[in-house]
Amino acid sequence: MLTKSQFWDYNSYITKLFSLKKMKAKLEALKKEFNDEAEKIKSLVDLESLENKYLSRKSGVLTLLMKEMKSVPKEEMPAVGKLANEVKQFLTNKLETIKSNLGNKNNSDTAFDPTLPGTEQPVGHLHMVSQAIREISGIFEDIGFQRERYPEVEWDYYGFEALNMPAGHPARDEWETFFIDREPINKKLGQRILTPHTSSGQVREMEKGELPIRMTNISKTYRRQIDASHSPMFHQFEGLVIDKDINISHLKGTVEYFVKRFFGEDREIRLRPHHFQFTEPSFEVDISCGVCHGKGCKLCKEGWLELAGAGMVHPNVLKAGGIDPKVYSGFAFGWGVERCYMMKSGLNIDDIRLLYKNDLRVINQF
Ligand code: DAH
Repeated sequence: MLTKSQFWDYNSYITKLFSLKKMKAKLEALKKEFNDEAEKIKSLVDLESLENKYLSRKSGVLTLLMKEMKSVPKEEMPAVGKLANEVKQFLTNKLETIKSNLGNKNNSDTAFDPTLPGTEQPVGHLHMVSQAIREISGIFEDIGFQRERYPEVEWDYYGFEALNMPAGHPARDEWETFFIDREPINKKLGQRILTPHTSSGQVREMEKGELPIRMTNISKTYRRQIDASHSPMFHQFEGLVIDKDINISHLKGTVEYFVKRFFGEDREIRLRPHHFQFTEPSFEVDISCGVCHGKGCKLCKEGWLELAGAGMVHPNVLKAGGIDPKVYSGFAFGWGVERCYMMKSGLNIDDIRLLYKNDLRVINQF
């Protein structure tokens, strides 16, 4: 039999043991339950409700359990308190880790908030020269011209010889050509060059042997020149028409049609006599100034702006392409894409090099 005092000692020992054990078990169970739930969290919204469930100040499961600690005997309080804090720390850490993992995944599916404004995706656009090329080829397609493609690395023969400029002809000098430093593969084709103009496509087109011809050749061209109006790489578009009974009025009508569509209905053209070895007669095409409409102003001086070259295909060029000049005739023109683009009404581009500097502040305006 226990004495009365022994009984009380024993009783309080059991109570202490019981409450300490009970609290430990409860905290362990809570930790495990929390951990199981945390493993399943897939969104920030779920994470928030988990945090509320366990840690909310008023009704959190852990908060309530900690309130129960008041029933723990004083001597046991530090041990139980320590354990409770460890569990609380564990919960907080775990919530933090999950939160940053969800943030890294940027899981917009699960963290989707339909009330937030959307993020605008950057969308690129065609470079202005590509835009101009598309517009130009479209304008000519509408009147039956087909766009062809010819090499940028060309033979001397197609660039000069076949265009009535034999080796040593002084007219060649105008083209400031880049020659490629390799032996010619045969005498006829001569040296490799970077084509200095799209006229090199003329005889190549004729050699196909399909008549009539109505083609455009738009491509990169190269010359040893650089300043505000020249870039060593630029683009040209060539037009070539060969058929029976083609005359200057066809040339003038086609050029006028293009100018009105590309530059605007209010622009006029004029043809000035000029010289090219591959056309006879040859012309320089001028368009009326977009600012003063032909009256004369600071920009154009005399009302007209020089645009490009054109002419009736020279009989020697037709012969080089295997076409009989007594039966067929044709006209051709070759203009700079950048030059035309820069002269478009309303565009104030005064340096061709701006088109190739890749400065987004410029490019994104067009
Ligand atoms: N190829 C000449 C140049 O680059 C331009 C040219 C003039 C092309 C007259 C033609 C033409 O087709 O007929 O300067």
